[in-house]
Amino acid sequence: MRVGEEGIQVVAGPEALSRSAACVVIRQAQQSLKARGLFTLSLSGGSTPLGLYGLLAHDPSIRAQLDWGKIHFFWGDERHVPPDHRDSNYRMAKEALLSEVPVPAENIHRIRSENSDAQKAAEEYEQTLRHFFHLGEGEFPRFDLVLLGMGTDGHTASLFPGTEALFERRRLVVVNRVEKFEAYRITLTLPVFNHAAFVLFLVTGEEKAETLHLVLEGKGEREPFPVQCIRPFQGKLLWIVDEGAAHRLQRLTNKDKEEGL
Ligand code: 6PG
Repeated sequence: MRVGEEGIQVVAGPEALSRSAACVVIRQAQQSLKARGLFTLSLSGGSTPLGLYGLLAHDPSIRAQLDWGKIHFFWGDERHVPPDHRDSNYRMAKEALLSEVPVPAENIHRIRSENSDAQKAAEEYEQTLRHFFHLGEGEFPRFDLVLLGMGTDGHTASLFPGTEALFERRRLVVVNRVEKFEAYRITLTLPVFNHAAFVLFLVTGEEKAETLHLVLEGKGEREPFPVQCIRPFQGKLLWIVDEGAAHRLQRLTNKDKEEGL
């Protein structure tokens, strides 16, 4: 399957979306392994990547193309709950993927959100990233691949509209208060996402069609959605969206849709 490197790819539905996303993961992993001998992958939460995680874990031809011992897993955001909580992004990835593949425990770099002090959990994760990527003062990690989703309100990771975390330019990880959930979230910051080598958004479902249209085709008449702030400086940005999510997009012709441009 040919999957583009940048732009927007429209696929039939969630199953096709997971397959296209798996192709991107394999391609980016192989490129990174060839170049540097390891692959750093930042996972997203939410329900959309579940199908992808399932394919990576259980489709024999996909699973066999990944050198699991050389993949390092990180998270773009986490809910302020323990790792066995039903809302935990770590738990979701662990159950769907990480417990099913031969990945060494030391390659799994989770956000320790069981810490009752969310601020401390964020600081600790920042140190984890600084240490792993050997970062000096003012430097940001360059993830080989960042997976992200989008909410109907245009949030991504735990960067919600109107929240303070959107203004962070220095730190790698912050706590973000999300009033609508009356909860704290721990999230990587915009400069981290924008230093990635490759950002892949996965979006499905008609309920996101209007937001996706405004995000990709809006005329800038409103405050930008958080997802619109993700523009990797020296990296690639690809959206894989299904027909449900794409049905309000005007600029894609049917030919583009078939070719995945
Ligand atoms: C989270 C996510 C979040 C998610 C979107 C989309 O922790 O919830 O990281 O940003 O990707 O809310 O979620 P769905 O895939 O469930 O629609």
